[in-house]
Amino acid sequence: MAYKIPLFNLNFDEREARAAYDTIKSGWISTGPKNAALEQMFIDMWHVQYAVSMTNCTSALHTCCMVCGFGPGDEVICPSLTFAASCNCIRYVGATPVFADIIGPEDLNIDPADIERKITPRTKGIIVVHMAGFPARMDEILEIARRHGLKVIEDACHGPLSEYGGRKLGTLGDCAAFSFFSNKNISTGEGGMFITDNEEMAAKARLIRSHGMTTMSYQRASGHATEYDITCMGYNFRMDDIRAAIAIEQLKKLPEDLQARAIVRQRYLDRLGGTEGIVIPFAGNNEFVSNYIFPTVLSGSDRARRDVIRERLHAAGIQTSVHYPAVHRFSTFRDCKAVLPQTEYVADNEITLPMYAALTPEQTDFICDTYKTAIQ
Ligand SMILES: Cc1ncc(COP(=O)(O)O)c(C=O)c1O
Repeated sequence: MAYKIPLFNLNFDEREARAAYDTIKSGWISTGPKNAALEQMFIDMWHVQYAVSMTNCTSALHTCCMVCGFGPGDEVICPSLTFAASCNCIRYVGATPVFADIIGPEDLNIDPADIERKITPRTKGIIVVHMAGFPARMDEILEIARRHGLKVIEDACHGPLSEYGGRKLGTLGDCAAFSFFSNKNISTGEGGMFITDNEEMAAKARLIRSHGMTTMSYQRASGHATEYDITCMGYNFRMDDIRAAIAIEQLKKLPEDLQARAIVRQRYLDRLGGTEGIVIPFAGNNEFVSNYIFPTVLSGSDRARRDVIRERLHAAGIQTSVHYPAVHRFSTFRDCKAVLPQTEYVADNEITLPMYAALTPEQTDFICDTYKTAIQ
């Protein structure tokens, strides 16, 4: 069905098309100068020391787990209200995900108090997901991590340029991962970025990205190197230069795109705020954020009712989504036997409304009016 108002639309124009075309015409399409330029943009815009481009956020998260040294026998605490990649990455290195609950419908991020409860002598790290681009309670989480000697990975793929106390999300923990999947704030189809301030982690990430090889094809082709050694286990996590060229154009547009999204969010808050039966998470947030999505949670409700309400919005031509089905309920994770009441409530009662820079005030009002009618 073609929706009257889709959940998301690509902020693409001839600039992305031109960047891809020019890269193809340049004769170098695999990882090369465009990736290097994109990494430098991240370093400059995030005020971070190192950036390593990746095939996607999943490979960046896998790399995070490797450079943090997680392995068999280790436990890593993560949320369940996330996309499976935030938890699967722990399994890729043979460690065990331990799910912590979220704070609740008003704050969909991981609960520091539950992190603390889930710590055992085997715990080695915490993966934080900044839901919808809103910062998790990093002061408390970093304090817990310091006290227990744990590594902190930020899955910041919802929050490019989001801030926490003036610092960019992704620069607070040991290392972080971003996604350029098509529906993200920076879209290239597939793509991702690993960032860190830790020199050793960055060097390892660069090796992991390309089979553990000490030089890349571009360095050899351009005469900067003739040989390579393979010094560790690695993968092919490289992003090609066609996508990197698109990402550069997307990143140039990002600050303006996020300003427009903030206006859309404010209109939603004005129209939906205070509506009985609808909670708007992070309503009190004062930080600059990416507004990757606009989540809402029904109060005093259940899954069957949520699905009926979504169906009514669908019938009116409004596309919605659910962020997220709880990961711990998927059959592959069932053995973990996690008890996460807040996560389960939100997973059953969340409705994500359309969010993108080009959403007009009239469209936003139509969504809000339709939603208010649909919950009656
Ligand atoms: C929170 C979160 N983490 C990780 C990922 C994985 O990103 P990618 O598709 O770039 O691997 C996603 C993608 O939707 C996500 O939403």
